[in-house]
Amino acid sequence: MRIAVIPAAGLGKRFGGKKQFFKVYDKLIVEYPIEIFSKNSLIDGIILVLPEDELELGGELKKKYKKILSIVPGGTERQYSVYKGLLEAREYKPKEVLIHDGVRPVVEYSKVEELVVALSDYEADGVILGVRPKETVKEIGTPLEPGDFLIRRTLDRDRLILVQTPQIFKFEVLLECHERALKENFLATDDSALLEKYGFTVVSIPGDYKNIKVTTKEDLEIVKVFLK
Ligand code: CTP
Ligand code: MG
Repeated sequence: MRIAVIPAAGLGKRFGGKKQFFKVYDKLIVEYPIEIFSKNSLIDGIILVLPEDELELGGELKKKYKKILSIVPGGTERQYSVYKGLLEAREYKPKEVLIHDGVRPVVEYSKVEELVVALSDYEADGVILGVRPKETVKEIGTPLEPGDFLIRRTLDRDRLILVQTPQIFKFEVLLECHERALKENFLATDDSALLEKYGFTVVSIPGDYKNIKVTTKEDLEIVKVFLK
């Protein structure tokens, strides 16, 4: 059993609203990954995590996409939303779980298989998608005017990746990491950071520059082009 958990319970503060429900062409943003995962026989079921006040919409999506097993209300942070999804997924006793942001609509169909194969081939606890940064990345220091900073140093680009979802994990490992992190009040922006913290093995394979996370309004314009 392999389940996909889609956290889509955010408020979209940087976007200016719940971007996961923004309509692009004939579908909501969050429907794109649901549709792609629905077509993929490597995924047995989907758990969709939504804002508490959008569960009614969730019911409609569950009717439309039969692979959705449950709709779960999210938490105040992405990590808590994923954890709630994992608790629901546990009922189905999955061996593996995929976590995918509900605001990454341009996910390549073939990535799921690549993640599944890499998890097994590398005997890893988790596999993530990474792309090489195209720009120079610097660490900032003291804030000056709003948005201005003193520069501390330049990071070595050859040692960096930008991380995307979907990410795949051994289910029991990810659940254990989430429980430990919850107890210790450790918060991270992706799930693989929890495995790194607790000493599990994470491998990265190539992601896709098109697989952008809709974060601000201009991302929407780019995504529209890719979804055409
Ligand atoms: N997410 C979630 N629960 C939260 C916060 C985020 O399920 N409490 C989800 C978002 O819906 C999104 C993914 O995690 O699918 C990535 O989060 P992000 O891009 O940060 O979305 P938001 O948190 O909604 O946006 P912002 O940080 O600008 O408020
Ligand atoms: Mg956020």
